[in-house]
Amino acid sequence: MTRALPAPHRPQAAVDPPLLHVSALTVTYPQGRRRPPLRAVDTVDLQLAAGRTLGVVGESGSGKSTLGAAILGLVAPREGSVTFRGRDITHLGGAQLRALAPDLQVVFQDPYGSLNPTRTIGATLAEPLRLHRRWDAERARDRVEDVLSRVGLPPGTAQRYPAQFSGGQRQRIAIARALTMEPALVVCDEPVSALDLSVQAQVLNLLADLQAELGLAYLFISHDLAVVRHICDDVVVLYRGRVVESGPAARIYQHPQHPYTRALVNAAPLPDPAAQRARRLQRAAPTLTPPPPGVGPAGAAGCPYAPRCPLVQPACLTAVPALAPSAADREHLVACVRRDEPS
Ligand SMILES: Nc1ncnc2c1ncn2[C@@H]1O[C@H](COP(=O)(O)OP(=O)(O)OP(=O)(O)O)[C@@H](O)[C@H]1O
Ligand SMILES: [Mg+2]
Repeated sequence: MTRALPAPHRPQAAVDPPLLHVSALTVTYPQGRRRPPLRAVDTVDLQLAAGRTLGVVGESGSGKSTLGAAILGLVAPREGSVTFRGRDITHLGGAQLRALAPDLQVVFQDPYGSLNPTRTIGATLAEPLRLHRRWDAERARDRVEDVLSRVGLPPGTAQRYPAQFSGGQRQRIAIARALTMEPALVVCDEPVSALDLSVQAQVLNLLADLQAELGLAYLFISHDLAVVRHICDDVVVLYRGRVVESGPAARIYQHPQHPYTRALVNAAPLPDPAAQRARRLQRAAPTLTPPPPGVGPAGAAGCPYAPRCPLVQPACLTAVPALAPSAADREHLVACVRRDEPS
């Protein structure tokens, strides 16, 4: 089945100042007394301009949600900074964080978990307008009706409860909730992963339409590179908390350089059955070559991907490769000693 997805990469105006600037961000979790803390997000740098979409991809446990949570102020970073609209928001708490909420919203994978089952949709969505904007009930109700119809939900939605909707409809409700305050940035953490393919496409199209209409920026977290490719302008690829590759989405998808990104791209199904079949045959050939003689397991100092990398060489075990531009495109950064080698 082919998916009707939004248009791919649009070139970025060089003058766009970043709406969001994340610098050397590190988040750790304790792992008990005997083991060092887990660096769930490790010295991550990224920038996102107003009205643009930045994808964050990586397999389960690569640190995507932790990165999103740190940007939203839900977990405290150990090092680094988060700057939003030129303001350092890294360590905001309590009232200051709540004051930022109208501008910085989130949509999670499981909207059911984040919608109060005992309250009507209308009551849940009106709450921030009443609280932050101090709007009266009637004005808030009008705004909620407007946003619900904008995301394609039928009249009467506001009077019903979360359990009365399908998964796709609940995700629309979660998007509507994120939009009531007209935010500048929405962190979308796997917003379509729980939906079937056709509903995924509808929700992605909706997100793209809302962006064109309202000028929103999205930080779009997903393990699915095919989804990210169609909705994102740029992409960062995370592996064990580190950015291993970043750049324009189309470029990364068509010319992935890091062996990990190549593996992710190969794992994503192709819409064309013939191409998918050809790839399956190619994949049947052994891709995991044994390490060359003298290459042992990577130590703490080496590339984090070395133990799984089919192309590992001795240099990979002694230092973490720096994220540096590829020869063909200065915006395409790769953290691999074999950068620019043909695949
Ligand atoms: N509250 C926590 N306490 C301890 N470790 C955590 C906590 N939250 C996440 N981790 C660990 O941090 C790492 C990154 O987790 P995170 O949830 O950010 O990954 P993810 O890329 O979002 O994965 P998924 O695709 O499964 O959602 C994982 O190893 C995870 O086990
Ligand atoms: Mg996650």
